[in-house]
Amino acid sequence: MRILTIVGARPQIIKAAALSRAIRTWFSGQIEETILHTGQHYDQNMSQVFFDELGIPAADINLQIGSASHGKQTALMLQGIEAEMEKNRPDFLVLYGDTNSTLAGAIAGAKMRIPIVHIEAGLRSFNKSMPEEINRIMCDHASTLLFVPTNAGIKNLRNEGFRIESGAPYSIDNPGVFHSGDIMFDNLLHFSSVAEEKSDILSRLQLQDNNFVLCTVHRDNNTDDPERLSAIFSAMQDISEKHSTRVVIPLHPRTAKLLPSKLQGGLYELISKNENISIIEPVSYLEMILLEKHCSQILTDSGGVQKEAYFFKKPLIIARPETEWVEIVDNGAGIIADANREKICNAYEYFTTASLTFPQVFGDGNAARFICETMLQNL
Ligand code: UD1
Ligand code: UDP
Repeated sequence: MRILTIVGARPQIIKAAALSRAIRTWFSGQIEETILHTGQHYDQNMSQVFFDELGIPAADINLQIGSASHGKQTALMLQGIEAEMEKNRPDFLVLYGDTNSTLAGAIAGAKMRIPIVHIEAGLRSFNKSMPEEINRIMCDHASTLLFVPTNAGIKNLRNEGFRIESGAPYSIDNPGVFHSGDIMFDNLLHFSSVAEEKSDILSRLQLQDNNFVLCTVHRDNNTDDPERLSAIFSAMQDISEKHSTRVVIPLHPRTAKLLPSKLQGGLYELISKNENISIIEPVSYLEMILLEKHCSQILTDSGGVQKEAYFFKKPLIIARPETEWVEIVDNGAGIIADANREKICNAYEYFTTASLTFPQVFGDGNAARFICETMLQNL
């Protein structure tokens, strides 16, 4: 079986590591993987670092599309992916998540009648002003095999008319929906102990176990809106001052570029002078999971980081108006605080004393192997 995997953005490269590892470990004689990198992310610390650290084979093709408007970026990717599949037609096109690289792959695959495998299918925010919501709906509806991490995802697809019990043979008109668990959980189980040995980030940043807040911000509705971005950073300023706690922010390049001009009322200068707030470059995956494992709480608008907070049993403050990972909130381990300074601070205070439980809702860490087996059974 020949598969073509499309990656482009940081989280997709990380997710692809789990599938490549499963292929190498159990299916090397049966599955031949080609990796196409669209080049959506291109900084060393947004792309290459993950290939090096997570043992992903070098991308066979890099389209080097880079940053552009949604239309231009997606169109250039579509053109490049189509050209590659005209040369080498795969049995399955494997797509991850909900980025523009996912959307470009979905359109190319559907038009060329190449069966699409969508990993992380079924998630919905029910907020179509998010570019990701458009991308994931389009991709799900163009897919042949849909691998869904959670029960909520299965329910969402059922509500959109997917017949979950429909049997093989599967096609774009009779898609197969599978509850696979979350492929990011596979990675975390695999790399968690490796990270302890390989990274010294805690001592480098002089962080104490369970005594700092980890924060990431990159959603366009937060980065591009001065009020929202200022509310999130004011909350971090408040928390660091009131509770004398460290706040560590590995900052996405999108946010780093916008921060000086978007923060209002001298907040940028205040944050820059605050010795308890460390704004650092994006970190590697092993460094990131070590920060997650040893922090006290996580404040984020990232999809992946929300889940990793739960995997590490950390209280989660969600800097978004809603989440696709509803199980985390339903279980009381996450609070939707949106970009609201007061709600973020209140959530932090609540979590300093709350006792939380983390039932297993993201599968058992064997998603990648299950996905490979299911693809082989449905070739
Ligand atoms: C993209 C995805 C988002 C995902 C995120 C993961 C879309 C529409 N968005 O958002 O779903 O959560 O990746 O991180 O696909 N930039 C750099 N260096 C890089 C990459 C980006 O400086 O290596 C800067 C550029 O200024 C660029 C901006 O970040 O314009 C945004 O990059 P882009 O890939 O368009 O979107 P993300 O915000 O990264
Ligand atoms: N991540 C990382 N370094 C960082 C920030 C995040 O390795 O500095 C990892 C994080 O552990 C998770 C993934 O990147 O596995 C999440 O990606 P991101 O937040 O960029 O995108 P999203 O999941 O929101 O699409």
